[in-house]
Amino acid sequence: MKVTVVGAGAVGATTADNIARKQIVDEVVLLDIKQGVAEGKAMDLMQTASLEGFDTKIIGSTNDYAKTAKSDVVVITSGLPRKPGMTREELIGINAGIVKGVVTQILTYSPKAILLIVSNPMDTMTYLALQVAQSMGVNKKRVIGMGGALDSSRFRYYLSQAMGVSQGDLHANVIGGHGDTTMIPLTRLATWNGIPASRFISKEALAKVAADTMVGGATLTGLLGTSAWYAPGIASCSMVEAIIRDEKRIVPASVSLNGEYGQKDICLGVPVVLGRNGWEKIVNYRLNKEEQEAFAKSADAVRNMNNVLST
Ligand code: NAI
Repeated sequence: MKVTVVGAGAVGATTADNIARKQIVDEVVLLDIKQGVAEGKAMDLMQTASLEGFDTKIIGSTNDYAKTAKSDVVVITSGLPRKPGMTREELIGINAGIVKGVVTQILTYSPKAILLIVSNPMDTMTYLALQVAQSMGVNKKRVIGMGGALDSSRFRYYLSQAMGVSQGDLHANVIGGHGDTTMIPLTRLATWNGIPASRFISKEALAKVAADTMVGGATLTGLLGTSAWYAPGIASCSMVEAIIRDEKRIVPASVSLNGEYGQKDICLGVPVVLGRNGWEKIVNYRLNKEEQEAFAKSADAVRNMNNVLST
């Protein structure tokens, strides 16, 4: 099995590192447009193999897509990251051109690949990738955006801090758009080993957890001077793992909606079952009225951004 990661920057290299260490596939190709960067990072990572104890081969490529041929999954992280004070949405113009070109090249060499889109603004980039992929005959279930997996891990982090419990015992998911104002941390459905979190902390504390989650990325951007990479890298890797190993795991991810959750002609975060064929099924969480309204508002905001693509 083979995975390509496009963009050997902070998130791409961390994703490749995690995939190699977990020995999910035999071969990882790291591709970047900057001369030598992907080769250098691939070599650096390969020099951890005897220490980490993995046999995955990591190959670097400066924009040579022939090396990516016959990839099973391709993670697309190429593009600009956020700087402090920037929204994910401000990246749209530059990253749209990059994502369009990358998807076309990738599918030319790996027509059967499942695409995992990470570049921001992610829901819009996933929608764009889907359009390109569908024009090249790819099924919509093979185009998936990574955002909810990361936002949910941030949600569980803030929730565990507020509750004083292990993150591993929490079930808490974020749906909707992958934006500071568009994501929806589902506090009503958050549980500690099946017991509603609302039984352990106050309504106000839960609301603060949700608010902290929504600006979780911006908080890190403020501290780091650029966007985060450890959690985005492992979130991407865990989705690749669910696909390659056909785990049938439920993960919130941005996929093409056709009436589900009341939306059409949009890619937006919903819980999906991930397996060898991509996103195999959308899970219906049965949102209450307030959550449905938040989801519709989130869809409106993402749709406005998608409209920028055609201007
Ligand atoms: P980075 O700047 O460290 O890496 C981006 C890499 O993409 C650079 O090495 C650059 O040379 C490369 N690149 C640019 N154009 C390319 C092209 N046409 N072909 C191949 N490579 C190209 O940025 P970082 O931190 O790795 O972030 C990457 C993207 O992921 C950003 O758009 C960021 O906003 C997004 N992101 C998304 C997250 C999510 O949850 N969906 C989480 C974190 C970051």
